[in-house]
Amino acid sequence: MRDRIGIVGGGQLGRMLTLAAKPLGFHVTVLDPGVDCPAAQVGAAQLAARSDVVTWEIEHIDAATLQALQEDGHPVEPSPATLAMIQDKLEQKRFLARHGLPVAEHAGFDAVGDDESVEGRVRAVVERLGRDIIVKTRTGGYDGRGNFRFDRFTERLAEGALDLDDLYAERIVPFTQELSVVAARGSHGDLAVYPTAETVHVDNICHTVTTPARISAGQEAAAREVAHETLQLLGGAGVFAIEMFAVEGGVVINEIAPRVHNSGHHTIEANVTSQFEQHIRAVSGMPLGSTESRAPAAAMINVLGRRDEPLTLEGLERVLAMPDTHAHFYGKSCQPKRKVGHITVLGDSVEDALRRAEQARGELAI
Ligand SMILES: Nc1ncnc2c1ncn2[C@@H]1O[C@H](COP(=O)(O)OP(=O)(O)O)[C@@H](O)[C@H]1O
Ligand SMILES: [Mg+2]
Repeated sequence: MRDRIGIVGGGQLGRMLTLAAKPLGFHVTVLDPGVDCPAAQVGAAQLAARSDVVTWEIEHIDAATLQALQEDGHPVEPSPATLAMIQDKLEQKRFLARHGLPVAEHAGFDAVGDDESVEGRVRAVVERLGRDIIVKTRTGGYDGRGNFRFDRFTERLAEGALDLDDLYAERIVPFTQELSVVAARGSHGDLAVYPTAETVHVDNICHTVTTPARISAGQEAAAREVAHETLQLLGGAGVFAIEMFAVEGGVVINEIAPRVHNSGHHTIEANVTSQFEQHIRAVSGMPLGSTESRAPAAAMINVLGRRDEPLTLEGLERVLAMPDTHAHFYGKSCQPKRKVGHITVLGDSVEDALRRAEQARGELAI
């Protein structure tokens, strides 16, 4: 039995995974920081020695180290090959497109013909996609860092700050909402999909998550279908989050996160099985749990730090006096825009839950 779980990454996701694993009796070892530093490569081997299965909570880690562990016979879930494919956003887009899944039209900055100049390579992309594009860093981007609108891209390029080999472009999608479908793949290929959530980003950082998503029945069906198809293509067991755009008549995939995700935090209270317990179940070879909602609606709001300072929980007593309101703090000190906690509110409607979540957030002086 896989009852010792090794987690790469010691942030809030690792913390919440550990909090879910403990009541089930699992033994958890956490390795932090990322496995791409030389010391951590030794650490990864030690982690594997202490664990029956290794998984992760951050995706910007060295997939080759995990692959080597797997080749040495240590179970790693989900598959390191899947992680490596997802880490390169262009490879990920190409993979999804090749399998017929809906993604924004995209292109790498490859030389066309003999013209290998920077200008020629940019011109080729503009001829194909136009200027209504977002240029993205292929690897290592998060919270919108590494994404540029066309004008900013050309500015940064002129400053010599960018390398076209590390970038690709995609058409801007005229979306009505951003969505996320959290889903799990069990060790026997069984799937469990959570109800679609709506996400709102402020300054490219997740601000609120609400469920059910206020989309048409056709869009909901498309989101679930796309999530099912995507998970069938990915190797290994675990929870994945599929970020999507709601567009007229359907959905377009933005990106896949090969891990538990901020857009699934509400599942701790709002669903029969939380995404964290689900991931532990998946990677340990246990049956997946029900993804059914426990309330008609839920809203999650992130709590971000404002300044460099220790976290003070002023106002928590007012938050905890509110009905069906749940606060989580991660034991991190505050830094500007750093996620230090979240609040989840269950309610009868999305509007009601969201209003009360915002009210609860307003009670906290951070
Ligand atoms: N093709 C696109 N069209 C419109 N908006 C986009 C597109 N790609 C990204 N965005 C916006 O930028 C945000 C961050 O982009 P994303 O690729 O998800 O980067 P990150 O890896 O930093 O989350 C998205 O949540 C969305 O709001
Ligand atoms: Mg994203």
